[in-house]
Amino acid sequence: MSLIQQIKDQVKPLGKRIVLPEYKDARVLRATAMILKEGFCKPVLVGNESEIRAAAHSEGVDIKGAEVIDPANYARFDEAVAVFTERRAKKGMTPEKAAETLKKDCLFFGAMLVNIGEVDAMVAGSASPTANVLRAALQCVGTAPGMKTVSSSIFMFTDKKEYGDDGVLVFSDCGVIPNPSSEQLADIACAAVEKSRRVLGMKDPRVSFLSFSTKGSASSPEVDKVVAAVEEVKKRNVDFKFDGELQLDASIVESVGAFKAPQSEVAGKANILIFPDLQAANIGYKLVQRFAGATAIGPLIQGLAAPIHDLSRGCFDTDIADVCAIAAVEASEAK
Ligand code: ACO
Repeated sequence: MSLIQQIKDQVKPLGKRIVLPEYKDARVLRATAMILKEGFCKPVLVGNESEIRAAAHSEGVDIKGAEVIDPANYARFDEAVAVFTERRAKKGMTPEKAAETLKKDCLFFGAMLVNIGEVDAMVAGSASPTANVLRAALQCVGTAPGMKTVSSSIFMFTDKKEYGDDGVLVFSDCGVIPNPSSEQLADIACAAVEKSRRVLGMKDPRVSFLSFSTKGSASSPEVDKVVAAVEEVKKRNVDFKFDGELQLDASIVESVGAFKAPQSEVAGKANILIFPDLQAANIGYKLVQRFAGATAIGPLIQGLAAPIHDLSRGCFDTDIADVCAIAAVEASEAK
């Protein structure tokens, strides 16, 4: 059974409510119909109910049973406005501006539904750029207690069983922080380990901090940043294996790892790859996806106070449903 099917079976009895705020995207309506049919969570759409039902009708999808929340007549709208105003007060937010934003911007409204506990999670982004979803999440929900950094992980499923855990690897951060500091790289690694344990059930995380250098083979400020990230993780006394700086081949190919970093307990066996910046990470995962035919799930946002997930604008309706299952499992463990 696939990991996603296992997750769907696991969350089905919990009836988690997931808001999908972008009903104008037909893939969202189709995903809603799929979720209702499979019954693994309860989709909540945002907007005018008759317009949503008409859109579904013209798409030929059955969304009977989907809940709709319309900002124009939502009973808890004033409460959402008050919470949003308070959260952003230092940035000059007023009740008027907050009400206008929540009425006009379905991503902010959806994220506030998560904040006030109306729903358990949000999945959005098939019709919006990543930055817009992230801004709504950061401004309405913010970071989890004790977390400073919001980042993301992508689960890569390849048929190259010799790499990672039987062909499964986690790449991070492929979606959020353009140029992370050493401290942020350390945060990204810790969050990726937590995400991998929680969602993938990963038993033995082995984290490699990637670079174009292995153990001092090259020197530059870019390499120094990665080395400093490894030092930062050492200070944190973590309960997982990590090493760096390592090149990609030294990280995942046993023979190269043994040759270039013989003392390392991660080299050649890494299952979590921390990229030095967003350009490398984003390009890297897309190369593996296209050239190796890997299935990529994510970017799954990590470090937020509640599950909010972004979708690629090139996603399929099935991806939307799958990410809802992941959000539901995270919501069930967050409570
Ligand atoms: N972690 C924690 N807090 C953050 C982060 C973060 N990563 N980023 C911003 N914040 C904070 C800000 O400091 C700000 O705090 P404040 O309100 O107390 O001052 C608050 O969150 C709100 O931030 P904004 O000002 O609204 O957002 P900002 O302009 O900082 O942009 C964003 C954040 C949207 C994440 C930006 O870094 C970005 O665009 N990242 C790249 C997204 C992207 O395009 N990814 C690639 C595509 S994904 C794909 O291909 C799969």
